[in-house]
Amino acid sequence: MSFCRPINTHGRSIILVGMMGSGKTTVGKELSRLTGLPVLDMDSVIEEQIGKSIPDIFKEYGEGHFRALETALLKYLENSSIASRGPAIISTGGGVVLSAQNRAILRRLGYVAWLDVTVDVLIERTSRSANRPLLNTPERFSVITDLCNRRIPLYEEASHIRIETSTMDVLKVVDMVHASAIEYFSHFDQ
Ligand code: S3P
Repeated sequence: MSFCRPINTHGRSIILVGMMGSGKTTVGKELSRLTGLPVLDMDSVIEEQIGKSIPDIFKEYGEGHFRALETALLKYLENSSIASRGPAIISTGGGVVLSAQNRAILRRLGYVAWLDVTVDVLIERTSRSANRPLLNTPERFSVITDLCNRRIPLYEEASHIRIETSTMDVLKVVDMVHASAIEYFSHFDQ
């Protein structure tokens, strides 16, 4: 996918939500390459701001503090989006939908695509990395299953589209987000 297919988002962003291991970061980078929009990875921005990794933030300050940082970043993105920042591809952390305030901000920021994946695929993909504090447990299967069950209605509420990505390659997912975003933003043309 070497060429660029710009998209008129009318100043809004494309936001990717979904569980850890659903492919948000990878899809976000490819979507950025395709559309020419800059990518903003919320976890990376928070790590840079605090000067610590996500596992260290969880360990030293607790999950509650991390969630407050997520909300503060979303508020900043919302308040700065019209003035100084243009639209972006925003990759979120999997738990961003836990707060009702976050879910509302996400929808105001733009088009929200939920990358959904089966529990089996999530377990397989997340087994390769140790930087997800919530999954540092021998009970990974039940933890992931439980997180999925609790979060499904929240992803549903926050998103404009659900894309079942378990059997798709990255570029197919990128194409689907891109095409559906064009369709969504076309309604702003009139
Ligand atoms: C989390 C997901 C992580 C990161 C943190 C908490 C979650 O991001 O924000 O470890 O609660 O699902 P990814 O979804 O990018 O792994």
